[in-house]
Amino acid sequence: MKGVILAGGLGTRLAPCTLVTNKHLLPVYDRPMIYYPIQTLIHAGITDILIVTGGHSAGDFLKLLGNGNAFGLKHLNYTYQEGEGGIADALSLAEYFVGDDRMCVILGDNLIEGNIRAAADAYRAQERGAKILLKEVPDAQRFGVVELVDGKVKRIIEKPKDPPSNLAVTGIYFYDAEVFQLISKLAPSDRGELEITDVNNMYLERGELTHDILHGWWTDAGTFNSLRRATNLVAESGANKERL
Ligand code: DAU
Repeated sequence: MKGVILAGGLGTRLAPCTLVTNKHLLPVYDRPMIYYPIQTLIHAGITDILIVTGGHSAGDFLKLLGNGNAFGLKHLNYTYQEGEGGIADALSLAEYFVGDDRMCVILGDNLIEGNIRAAADAYRAQERGAKILLKEVPDAQRFGVVELVDGKVKRIIEKPKDPPSNLAVTGIYFYDAEVFQLISKLAPSDRGELEITDVNNMYLERGELTHDILHGWWTDAGTFNSLRRATNLVAESGANKERL
């Protein structure tokens, strides 16, 4: 299984810090944000990794990470997203890298306490389709949120004003190579982006979407509040100690 880290976008919610650097190069406690999703993939046994980045500081990823020696990797792959076309647009750039393989996709601003190895193993055993990881949150209107009927996901709504549940869709997704066909059929949303939630709903309609609940803490780090939360969680849980 391939690993794809999406670290493009302009990070406007963290301006002015993101005016001169990429969001994923900003520090979370004692290391750059991008270190955490790399480590999440490696902990799950996924070492063939592509980083999709963009914006004006893309070259700094190479300076910082090189071939991933600090993580025990022999090689890291990079590609560049023009503009800010959305998460699904960024993922479409991974097609050349993934080929017919399957993939674990992780958003570059998502941090977890635990391990996704069990979810990755469960997805490997799944015949086809996609798997999403859900987490209970107090502020569901900030995320993609699932509506559950009889314990089954009925649909996913992106940033609902009135969330149908408190279960957010985390930025960790498992897909088969069919995802690239599905993305090619997407139209931009009202905010002008190709939405990953639309991709997940397509898998849902095909009856090919499974889900697990993520254990341990999870947070994004794309706003000043969530960046502070991420820093505190890493510092207090000692999650950084076992990394590197
Ligand atoms: O964190 C989980 C949430 O992430 C999900 O619950 C939502 O369903 C999903 O849409 C996403 O919501 P955000 O509004 O938080 O996404 P954001 O625009 O902040 O982008 C998250 C990451 O995706 C960002 O750190 C880098 C990557 N990205 C984003 C865009 C818009 C790209 O690589 N390229 C892009 O064009």
